Amino acid sequence: MKIRVLFLFAIVVCAALLAVLATSMWVMNERSKLTLVEIGGPFTLTNHRGEQISDTAFRGRLMLIYFGYTYCPDVCPTELQVIGNVLDHLGDAISQITPVFITIDPERDDWETLNSYVEHFHEDLVGLTGSAEEIAAVAKAYRVYYAKSKQGGSEEYLMDHTSLIYLMDKNGRFARHFTSGTSAEDIAAGLSSAL
Ligand code: NI
Repeated sequence: MKIRVLFLFAIVVCAALLAVLATSMWVMNERSKLTLVEIGGPFTLTNHRGEQISDTAFRGRLMLIYFGYTYCPDVCPTELQVIGNVLDHLGDAISQITPVFITIDPERDDWETLNSYVEHFHEDLVGLTGSAEEIAAVAKAYRVYYAKSKQGGSEEYLMDHTSLIYLMDKNGRFARHFTSGTSAEDIAAGLSSAL
């Protein structure tokens, strides 16, 4: 009798453990699905040559995406410089990566402005702009915050904005991000593992 009780008890404990394990695996799986769908999404914008271009045009290559604006005095040029350095360190792998700069200041950054800006950083850098609505939609998809910051009553303004470098995989899905200040070496290493 005692053995039977112990046996039943063991079965109940095992069942409980299995239930806990199954639940936590399910939760982890749901979480990873959320990360994949939460950042990024389809877009159609205008590139720095004045051509309409959609996200699907970049399939089969990794994308390094940075949101910023050409009037940015410090952070954007620094981050784009880092992206340029990353690309220069990649050798042949560069053919598998498209660096993309999306403006969050479409009011001033038309495609001509982007055209003369992107070439300062890398010949492969693709500049993207669009209408205020198009930019708002793509920024929302990438969870990018941006807002005008006026300087003491003048018409001049700066933009406050999220400064992250997004790595999208060859299917256009979010792979990971690099925070502002990550070195070119560390980003290049992160890219190599995604190639
Ligand atoms: Ni900036």
